[in-house]
Amino acid sequence: MRGSEANSGGRLPIDALHVDRQSGVPIQRQIYLALRDFILRGVLDQGTRLPATRELAKDLAISRNTAVRVYEQLSSEGYVETRQGSRTYVADLPSSTKANHKLGPEASAADLSPFAMAFDIDERIDFAPGAAALRPSTPDTGVFPFKTWNRLLGGHLLYRNVELLNYNFPYGYPPLQEAISKYVQAYRGVRCEPDQVLVTNGAQSGLDLLARVLLDKGDVVWMEEPGYVNARLVFGAAGADLRAWKVCEAGWDFADLPVGKPRVIYTTPSSQHPLGLTMGAEQRLRLLETASQHEAWVIEDDYDSEYRLAGRSVPAMQGNDAFGRTIYVGTFAKTMFPAIRIGFVVLPPLIAQRVKRAALYSGNQVSLPMQATLKDFIVNGHFARHLHRTRRLYAERRSIFTELVASRLGAWLQPYQSDVGIQIAYRLTRPMNDVAIARRANQQGLNVVPLSRYYSGPPVPGLLMGYAALDEKAMRSCLAILASVIETSEEIH
Ligand SMILES: Cc1ncc(COP(=O)(O)O)c(C=O)c1O
Repeated sequence: MRGSEANSGGRLPIDALHVDRQSGVPIQRQIYLALRDFILRGVLDQGTRLPATRELAKDLAISRNTAVRVYEQLSSEGYVETRQGSRTYVADLPSSTKANHKLGPEASAADLSPFAMAFDIDERIDFAPGAAALRPSTPDTGVFPFKTWNRLLGGHLLYRNVELLNYNFPYGYPPLQEAISKYVQAYRGVRCEPDQVLVTNGAQSGLDLLARVLLDKGDVVWMEEPGYVNARLVFGAAGADLRAWKVCEAGWDFADLPVGKPRVIYTTPSSQHPLGLTMGAEQRLRLLETASQHEAWVIEDDYDSEYRLAGRSVPAMQGNDAFGRTIYVGTFAKTMFPAIRIGFVVLPPLIAQRVKRAALYSGNQVSLPMQATLKDFIVNGHFARHLHRTRRLYAERRSIFTELVASRLGAWLQPYQSDVGIQIAYRLTRPMNDVAIARRANQQGLNVVPLSRYYSGPPVPGLLMGYAALDEKAMRSCLAILASVIETSEEIH
């Protein structure tokens, strides 16, 4: 009876079983095929109890004999089994049977739009299960005050505030818009009124929306190289002509700006993704001027600069933009936990109304009880406290991590100089294939990412590693594994 208890909540979705009496396909076969498909696709888990034949017959308005014959056929082919007298349960199928069914042939451009085809399936990264294990972009969810969070969320759900349970506030829960606007003004130097804030399903959904509302096919986008892959993908999918704007250890290359008049410039000036560099004040002004000359929009992705762990805080570029061309993108994925899926965009007044309308119709709305909870969390001071604690914790961990890497792997890995963020980029000091190293590390359960993944052109090989979610013991054991992977990897000659 393995699995039957665990799956006792699973039920046959009877409404999804359509019997078409005009189709010419025998009814028994239609039901058999539909049930087999549910089982193979995992809609019905192993151990799910199917309705009695009498019940199935009644629900589908078919004869009981037909229902019996369907179950007999499924049973003779091993999809279901009969136990405890006459009860029928979904059988335990070999996973290869299910996988083969799930992965049909790959769709081609004939089947899908260029938008869909732009999202290439990336074979190079195969994250091992579990978040820690050096995975970049990963905060320590273990230190998040979930008791407080749950109390606040429970309050909203119990109280059943009708406002929060209906189709309301499509651009964001107004008290949250206000809390975010105060937060970014105070902490990030952003200039902003609450109704410029659009609450999104994470920063990613904001980036996708911006790509679609700002770009026509063929528009030039300057994109940092190396740069944030998920941004590059959505700009590409919106039809952008992507031009690489080089970033290296010395910073953003202003001497060799990309050619072509940009419509959008995407940048992560306070914590360059993935290198962790910070753009200086003078360069920021130059960038804003360049954008204004070209009448380009600047997308400032400020995803993790709350974690500036040494030195003075560097305010967002948006606050210095006298031209009103900067769109600020923020997220709570790093400061709280990634699965919260709440981010936001601060829109320039000129485009705010239109972009918000577009967000509404593209279905970009965040659960209102979650937004209300986040608002409470911020205004009651929990957010600031959590930030303060995690800043100290990550600063400690960062220095332990960099020391451990230097002592254990210093011969192979050189860090990019950075004081910000919850991950660290390392350059390989020897001619080695970072993709091969990362793949072998991934097989050993380490979620390091090859730096070359962030380049569209010739890469600088290296590794991007997250440290924030690991205590010293976990760091030591991850780095011991990584050392053995690197030591036994071949140099390229
Ligand atoms: C550069 C950059 N922007 C944005 C995000 C955050 O995205 P989201 O809020 O969708 O999790 C990340 C996350 O890793 C990131 O690295």
